[in-house]
Amino acid sequence: MNFGFNGNNIKAQQAPNKAQGMWTILEKIVIKGGLPLSGEVLISAAKNAVLPIVAATVLCDEPVILENVPEISDITFALKILRSMGAEIKLLSKNKVMFDTRKITEPRVPYEMAKKMRASSYFLGALLGRFHEAHVALPGGCNLGDRPIDQHLKAFRALGAEEMLDGGEQYVHAERLIGSLVYFDVVTVGATINAMLAAVKADGLTVLEHCAKEPHIVDVANFLNKMGADIIGAGTDTIKIKGVKYLKGIEYSVIPDQIEAGTFMVASAITGGDIIVRNVIPKHLESITQTLRKIGVTVEEFDDSVRVYVESPLKGIKLKTLPHPGFPTDMQPQVSTLLTLAQGSSVVTEEVFDNRFAYAKELRRMGADITVSGKAVMIEGVEKLKGAPVDASDLRAGAALVIAGLAADGVTEIGNIHYIKRGYENIVEKFKGLGADIKYGQYPDYPDCEIKREA
Ligand code: EPZ
Repeated sequence: MNFGFNGNNIKAQQAPNKAQGMWTILEKIVIKGGLPLSGEVLISAAKNAVLPIVAATVLCDEPVILENVPEISDITFALKILRSMGAEIKLLSKNKVMFDTRKITEPRVPYEMAKKMRASSYFLGALLGRFHEAHVALPGGCNLGDRPIDQHLKAFRALGAEEMLDGGEQYVHAERLIGSLVYFDVVTVGATINAMLAAVKADGLTVLEHCAKEPHIVDVANFLNKMGADIIGAGTDTIKIKGVKYLKGIEYSVIPDQIEAGTFMVASAITGGDIIVRNVIPKHLESITQTLRKIGVTVEEFDDSVRVYVESPLKGIKLKTLPHPGFPTDMQPQVSTLLTLAQGSSVVTEEVFDNRFAYAKELRRMGADITVSGKAVMIEGVEKLKGAPVDASDLRAGAALVIAGLAADGVTEIGNIHYIKRGYENIVEKFKGLGADIKYGQYPDYPDCEIKREA
C-alpha cells in the first residue's frame, strides 16, 4: 500500500504545475463502453466513516491502529493534516495505519489544508474535545450548494464553548465542556458526529436530539466506545453521551462503504452485467437495493455480498433523496444516470443539498434526455448513450460519468478525475477487474504552442 506518504510529505495527487517549471499533466479516465460487467469486486472501508474516525484519533490517550484505511485522496489528506499538527502516523502494512496523536500540542489545522476538505470540520470537534480549543478554517469540499456549519457551532455552544470567525478561520474555545441538551434544527451527519467528538470527554451527560442516523455515525460511536467512551443511541434520533476521562488504544476495522457498493451495483445494472459485490453489509444497502428493484434490477442478498444483474427492461421511477434510512443523496447522480437508459419518464428530487445536479449537463453531452427543474431532474429514457469528452464536477458526479461511460457506445474521456480519487479506491483497477475497457490517460500538452512574452 503506498499512500505516497514517504517522510514528511505526500506525493502530489496532481503533478506539480508549470509555475514550478514542470508541465501540467492533467489525468483523465478513458472508457470504451458497451461491455457488460462480470465477476466480483471487493468494497473498501467507508470514506465517510474513516474521515471522522481519523479525526477522532486526536481524542485517544494511546496509539490507535486502523486496519483498513482506503487509499483515497481525502483520507491521505486527513493523515497529512494530523502529521502537520505533530501526530505520529505509521503505515504498518497495506491499508493498516498506526496513529499516535499524543504529541499534538497546537489545536490548529493549517489554514490552507483545512479549507480543502469538508471533513476537516471534524477536527473542530476532536480538538475542542481534547484541548477545549480549536482553530480550523471554514471547510471546503464538493460544491453541492451552501454547506454551513451552524449546527456544529450550536452543539459546541451548548457544551459551553464560545466561537468566533477570525480571518476565515473558525475558532472555538471552552474553559470547561459541560454535558448539555442539543436539538439539531436540521438532520446533519457532520454536526451529529462533531457533537459526539466534542462531548465524549465533557463533564456529565450530553443528549443529542434530531440526529442523523447514517451507518457511518454508528461506526464512529462504536469506535469511540471501543476506546472506552460511553455513547448510546447512535443510529437513532437521540444519542446520549456520558463524558469519560480516558480513551485507550485499540485496533479497529471500519465498516464497508455503502456508496461505493451502490456505485458498483448501478454499474452492473446499466451495462447489463452480472456481478457479485463483496464485503458489504446488506442492511446498509436497503434503500439502494429497494430502489434498484423498483427500476427492474435483480439484487440477490447474501451475508456479506450482493449479486446484481438485469433480467428485464428497466423502467423509470419517481425518487427522492432523504437522510438515512431514506435513499442516500450520495447515490443520486449514479441512479439518475441509470434512469437515463430506463424506459419512460423519471423524476429524481434532491432533498438534502441545494445543488447536486452539475452532472446533468455532462450526461446531455452523451445523449441523455435530462433537465434540471428546481430541486429535481426530469429524465426521459433514451435507447443509448454515446461516448464523449466530459468533466467531473464533484465526487459522485464523477462516479456517475464513469457509469455512463461504461454503458455508452464508443469512447468517453472524463476530466477532473481528482474529484473521483477523493472517494473511490482503485476505481479504474476495480472496474478493469470486472471486464471494463477502462484506463487512465493524459491530456496532451502543447509545449510548442507556448506564448513567450519577451521581458
Ligand atoms: C456528509 O456531509 C458527507 N460527507 C456527504 O458525502 C453526504 O452527502 C452528507 O453527509 C449527507 O449524507 C462526509 O461525511 C465527509 P450534512 P455533511 O451535514 O456532513 C445542511 C460524499 O459524496 N447543514 O448531513 O456536510 C447542509 O447544508 C459526500 O461522500 C446545515 O444547514 O452533510 C445540507 O444541506 C458529499 N447546517 C444538509 O444539512 C449545518 O451545520 C446535510 O448536510 C450542517 C449541515
